[in-house]
Amino acid sequence: MRKKLIVANWKMNHGTEDTLKFLTHFKRKAHLMGAVKVALCPPLTSLYAASVYLSETELPVFLGAQNCHWEEKGAFTGEVSASFLKELGCQFVIVGHSERRHQMGETAEQSALKAIAVFKQGLSPIFCVGETRAEREAGQTQEVVLGQLEVLLSQITVSELVNLVIAYEPVWAIGTGLSATADQADEVHRFIRQRVAEWASAEAASRMTILYGGSVSPSNIKDLISRPDIDGALVGGASLEVDSLMQIVHDASLV
Ligand code: PGA
Repeated sequence: MRKKLIVANWKMNHGTEDTLKFLTHFKRKAHLMGAVKVALCPPLTSLYAASVYLSETELPVFLGAQNCHWEEKGAFTGEVSASFLKELGCQFVIVGHSERRHQMGETAEQSALKAIAVFKQGLSPIFCVGETRAEREAGQTQEVVLGQLEVLLSQITVSELVNLVIAYEPVWAIGTGLSATADQADEVHRFIRQRVAEWASAEAASRMTILYGGSVSPSNIKDLISRPDIDGALVGGASLEVDSLMQIVHDASLV
């Protein structure tokens, strides 16, 4: 049975001070989390303070980063490696987010290399895939998602799948308030799981966590997470406030 996972992607929000305020407030409400796994992905500069806070308070929340480089060390000004993130206590690294693919020009090959670097450290990449509105309207959703996924799957082993988290994030739904419907998301999630089952095995695919991301909020989480192939959510805007994130986590725990 896959455990539900809610991941907060804070993007470029919440510096160290705000991160600590958030955690202090979140801790007071921790009894509402139920059996849902929660991971917070603050900006890089807030990770250390968050990591210290989590280990001192034993708050059962995982830590993730929003990006990494594919090399372990070297002359890559401004970059950090997955091994540094591991040292900080991260268990997850978001890889190939559409904002990095579309705004920073990250290629499919680079996203795959980053995910491989994350696997190498024994951490879990949250590998983001998703189509643009134009691609959906042209009926290319499955083809686009499969193309993004295949670049990664062709370079990893079946045993690495255990640590892989896939996030289906339609680009048109991110930050727009226009979430995919549960039917639309479920269809793509089922498609991804079937493809992974064909590539690896039905057993491996059934153990893999697939998150939905794109305008997830307290008003749509129940509908999304009640679908059998939607194992949780990658939440941006609605994860910035404790109350709305906790509402999402709590509602997910009830399904
Ligand atoms: P959103 O962002 O929830 O604000 O749409 C999701 C994401 O970008 O991961």
